[in-house]
Amino acid sequence: MRLLRALRREPLDRPPIWFMRQAGRYLPEYRELRSRYSFEEAMRSPRIAAEITLQPLRRFDLDAAIVFADIMTPLPAMGVPVEFAPGPRLAPVELRKVALLRELDPSRVDFVAEAIISARASLDPSVAMIGFCGGPATILAYLLEGGGSQDHPAFRQAMEYEDPSDALGVLARAMRVYLRSQIEAGAEVVQMFDSWAGLLSPGKFRQWAVPAARDALDDLGVPTIYFAPGATHLLESFHEVGATAYGVDWRLPLDKSWQLVGGQYALQGNLDPGLLLGDSETVHAATIRVLEEADGRRGHIFNLGHGVRPDTPVANVETMVKAVIGWPSAASGATSRVGRAT
Ligand code: CP3
Repeated sequence: MRLLRALRREPLDRPPIWFMRQAGRYLPEYRELRSRYSFEEAMRSPRIAAEITLQPLRRFDLDAAIVFADIMTPLPAMGVPVEFAPGPRLAPVELRKVALLRELDPSRVDFVAEAIISARASLDPSVAMIGFCGGPATILAYLLEGGGSQDHPAFRQAMEYEDPSDALGVLARAMRVYLRSQIEAGAEVVQMFDSWAGLLSPGKFRQWAVPAARDALDDLGVPTIYFAPGATHLLESFHEVGATAYGVDWRLPLDKSWQLVGGQYALQGNLDPGLLLGDSETVHAATIRVLEEADGRRGHIFNLGHGVRPDTPVANVETMVKAVIGWPSAASGATSRVGRAT
């Protein structure tokens, strides 16, 4: 598996490619399914979730599938009802009450494990299956705010001026249980999306978000990827999470981010998903720029700097994928794909 080899930082002819939110609304076949099933129904049906997981793989020659679920998926099983509208909506939970949430019983999220088993069975053996969860700090942000928010004032207050350690401990344990169930079902890699960690100051990131993320990811037996967007000021502390690889956004050139994260780690990223809304020349040039910044270094995993936007033309995604798959020969005019290893 090309993704696993990149995570081990073995030499490869080209980087592996997959992208965040690859199973989603930019695909007409996803929208067609969603016209018949709600997000909730689709996610809770292993058959439909597996089908959505596979949709991008039927179109593009990707190196990984990511299970169709959401970072908020385990919350109802912990006693917090969540609606998707389409972003997560829930009644806000106070910090001290988060610490009292029920432990996650993995049998209550078995639909995710079953979607993984089902999707894995249909995937080519060269394609890796990725499981995922939210970062404990990010889940806490959603719980305290009751959904998405511009600047998450309740979350920042809790993290900067209060002691969120009990709440984060509960969430870290739940994420660990959730990831374990996905790994048992066949996920070969897991990614943690810490989407709101970038709101924190470096000191509080290191004091609270990092230990919680580390506790959830430690010693899971498979390679782990820690991704936090909008976290340029935190890149130098990412390694304290103890993941195998780190995912970075587009705010810095890839080589600069890699230097800050540490050249000894595999790095995932970082095409700006906004550029996928442009014309195909822009997409091609932007893809090549990321590949050039990575400069063939071992451990580069090609991805976007954040999730693909729902208004992205499918043809642009195809242009991006083909540019990566053809690299470096297609960039210099040749067309053959010699020695494509699996
Ligand atoms: O990447 C994949 O293809 C796997 C599926 C996946 C979803 N959500 C499905 C989804 C993954 C990995 C996620 C992660 C997720 N969910 C994150 C972390 C990544 C990030 O963007 O920072 C966050 C913050 C969420 C929370 C969330 N879920 C939001 C903010 C929204 C609404 C806005 C949006 O981007 O769609 C959702 C709903 C959601 N999760 C959809 C999908 C396909 C759209 C639902 C629909 O209307 O069909």
